[in-house]
Amino acid sequence: MVNTVTFSNGDQMPMLGFGTWKSAPGGLKYKLKLAIATGYRRLGLGPWKGAPGDVYSTVKDAIAAGYRHIDCAHVYGNEANIGRALADCFKAGIVTRDQMWITSKLWSDCHEPKEVQPAVENTLANLQLDYLDLYLMHWPVAIQKGSTFPVTPETLISLKDLPLLDTWRAMESLVDKGLCRHIGVSNFSIAKLQNLLDNAQRPPEMNQIELHPYLQQPSMLDFCHKNNIHLTAYSPLGSADRPASLKTANEPILLEEPTIAAIAKSHGVTPAQVLLSWAMQRGTVAIPKSFNPERIRQNLASAEVVLTAKDMQTITALDLNRRYVDGAFWQVPGGPYTVENIWDL
Ligand code: A2P
Repeated sequence: MVNTVTFSNGDQMPMLGFGTWKSAPGGLKYKLKLAIATGYRRLGLGPWKGAPGDVYSTVKDAIAAGYRHIDCAHVYGNEANIGRALADCFKAGIVTRDQMWITSKLWSDCHEPKEVQPAVENTLANLQLDYLDLYLMHWPVAIQKGSTFPVTPETLISLKDLPLLDTWRAMESLVDKGLCRHIGVSNFSIAKLQNLLDNAQRPPEMNQIELHPYLQQPSMLDFCHKNNIHLTAYSPLGSADRPASLKTANEPILLEEPTIAAIAKSHGVTPAQVLLSWAMQRGTVAIPKSFNPERIRQNLASAEVVLTAKDMQTITALDLNRRYVDGAFWQVPGGPYTVENIWDL
């Protein structure tokens, strides 16, 4: 039984969701078309890289296995395929819309207030839904409409010219219009969250960030707890299948961490299950991605794993403050964004 986090209006979000980043839409023709349209090739950030499966059948498998929360984003390039999977599951009576929690994210080229509603409408059309449970601003970064990632500094728009608050106000109106039940952000620092809290009409209800034993972010946890902001942990397993352009030489591999392996052995479970159980026991939502049917089930079963206080303490000592997704792909010479100003270091 997967626990939930509760929003201020009583809505409940399952603490274990199915991650769809790096999940191939399926079909070579589609992948090539998308690659050319988005210019993903340069950065190798595309959803098909290293993803052998097909997100349509995998999402169906995940729902059949018992997942009731799917984490999506426009930029993953696969929402239409996820939409087909959801529609088929609803039609077959496997689940109903209100039994599912669906999150998606606004891409950075739609931060202009007038672009926000068309962006969510496009996502809703792709997902074949009439509302999202949660819509997040994907990055605190703005880029010209039609660009996916920066190639030249001119494609980026500074936050001085297009403040996050302007985008946020447009997101607030999506809740009033019933297009989203909840709104939040992703990859936001404490300072950027504070700015929204100080100025927004609707406070952000979620920050989706990278969280795992090598990047525990205790002050973020504390801040969000005090301000009623939920946290979702992305890359909870260390995202070892992310594109080569997001990797560095000799980086530590989370799923091979000996301390996690020892705790797993002591409970008769797998290292992935320890990592997911740890995330949930800290009160955070986790969205592991897997294309493997056995691991899809295994990850869901982590909801039954109970770590001891000593296990939790032992894992606390593993923190390296090590980001796997450091946002450096937003940094172009002469551009407005740096790793330092994205995270407010
Ligand atoms: P696969 O899709 O072949 O299962 P993250 O969720 O942190 O982004 O990590 C995803 C990576 O972790 C993928 O390479 C995925 O591979 C792998 N993975 C997912 N679940 C498990 C598991 N239970 N055991 C080992 N590796 C896993």
